[in-house]
Amino acid sequence: MSSGFFMQHLSTRIASREAKVGVIGLGYVGIAVAAALADAGFRVVGVDVKADRVARINAGECPIEGDEPELPELLRRVTAEKKLVATTDYAPLAEADVVLIGVDTPVDADRRARFVALQNACRDLGRVMKDGVLVVIESTVAPGTCETIVAPLLERESGKKVDEGFFLGHCPERVMSGKLLSNLRNLPRVCGASTPETAAAMIAFYRTIAHGKLETSDWVTAELVKTAENTLRDVNIAFANELGLVCEAAGADFSRVRALVNELPGRNMLVAGAGVGGHCIPKDPWLLVQGLSDLQPRVLPAARAVNDAMPLHVGRLVEAALREAGVAIAGARVVLLGYAYLANSNDTQNSPSATLATYLRERGANVIVHDPWVAGHATDLWDATRGADAAVLMVAHDAYCDLDLTRLKATLAHPVLIDGRRVVDADAAEKAGFVFRAVGRGKRRRQR
Ligand SMILES: NC(=O)c1ccc[n+]([C@@H]2O[C@H](COP(=O)([O-])OP(=O)(O)OC[C@H]3O[C@@H](n4cnc5c(N)ncnc54)[C@H](O)[C@@H]3O)[C@@H](O)[C@H]2O)c1
Repeated sequence: MSSGFFMQHLSTRIASREAKVGVIGLGYVGIAVAAALADAGFRVVGVDVKADRVARINAGECPIEGDEPELPELLRRVTAEKKLVATTDYAPLAEADVVLIGVDTPVDADRRARFVALQNACRDLGRVMKDGVLVVIESTVAPGTCETIVAPLLERESGKKVDEGFFLGHCPERVMSGKLLSNLRNLPRVCGASTPETAAAMIAFYRTIAHGKLETSDWVTAELVKTAENTLRDVNIAFANELGLVCEAAGADFSRVRALVNELPGRNMLVAGAGVGGHCIPKDPWLLVQGLSDLQPRVLPAARAVNDAMPLHVGRLVEAALREAGVAIAGARVVLLGYAYLANSNDTQNSPSATLATYLRERGANVIVHDPWVAGHATDLWDATRGADAAVLMVAHDAYCDLDLTRLKATLAHPVLIDGRRVVDADAAEKAGFVFRAVGRGKRRRQR
């Protein structure tokens, strides 16, 4: 049968919602898109290698525990109605008309892409996929991955040719923890495809769940857009962080400098803080420049280095504040407020707090972690802070944004407070009698 026939068949089945959909990888990305597609009327099979995750989803439980508006209710409903069924088995994907791949695509300690999950997914899908299937990579990948890894693997394992026996697209996800469904539904998407026909099929498919603008491009442009947008954020954060360090050294307050800079149109400087975490931002700059051996990127590695060093900088602020309070770091009890990488989320991937905890423990501190969102750390705030020699605010969770400073001071053994997220009113903290440090807040020099 011709590619034209397959495309016609696919379009009809998408329009009527008869198309069967597979989603490989049921993490943050896969779970949200699988639930949204089931809600749009498709029969969805979700495949994940983690049997416990599959069991929880089939039981109607949302395995993502942070605040995810609508997702737990939606998952409960679509799994109860059997519109979404999860499995560890690739065999049911033999019936799928569209298969999305949203597995993890990390980098190793040496910053090289580790696409084992993606390669395994392509291999196992290639062995079962039917003629005319549309495969869409939703994972974030390095430029050239569709061309040099995904297409050849699917072709080799399936014995079918791309654009003839099957179709391949790249539609990078733009979800983030805390906004999975709303980003999925409302943000614009890029549909990268090798032919206008595949792009048109992708648009028709994504239109069933996405209200944002749907643009088309080739594969590599879509790959570049995604890695570039996260890298831009990393570089912008690094600039704010470096200016924060400059302000500290110069004896000025970053918050005031930032506010005045941002009065100019188009500046939009971000906030300096205790570091960058999560699955995506710390690794996507490395994916962006992956395998480009003739290129010597300078800005991107520098930005990564600045952001990676911020939790260590907070560690030095803790040491200095403890010293001022007459407490040695060795043996000091330090409570970290927040362990997730993001406010009001339970996502602890690449947590800056983990880096800070290691730094402090290496210096002999006794580190206690509190986080209202993270299992194992969601204890009572006042029990966690009681008797500590210092409190370090690492995440701008709502629970920490309006801290009762008087109560905190009475609860701590020493009134030492370090604000890594600039959410504490510095003047109020100093007035309350804290030895106070904040990222970007220099000690004022005498005014002339
Ligand atoms: N988390 C986000 O907010 C976000 C946003 C945009 C893009 N992305 C990108 O989307 C991709 C997935 O991210 P995530 O956060 O959902 O990752 P995740 O680690 O939460 O989920 C990935 C899932 O894939 C499963 N998996 C791994 N190998 C598999 C295989 N061979 N077959 C079936 N399942 C397999 C894992 O068990 C896991 O459950 C990554 O490329 C990431 O960069 C993530």
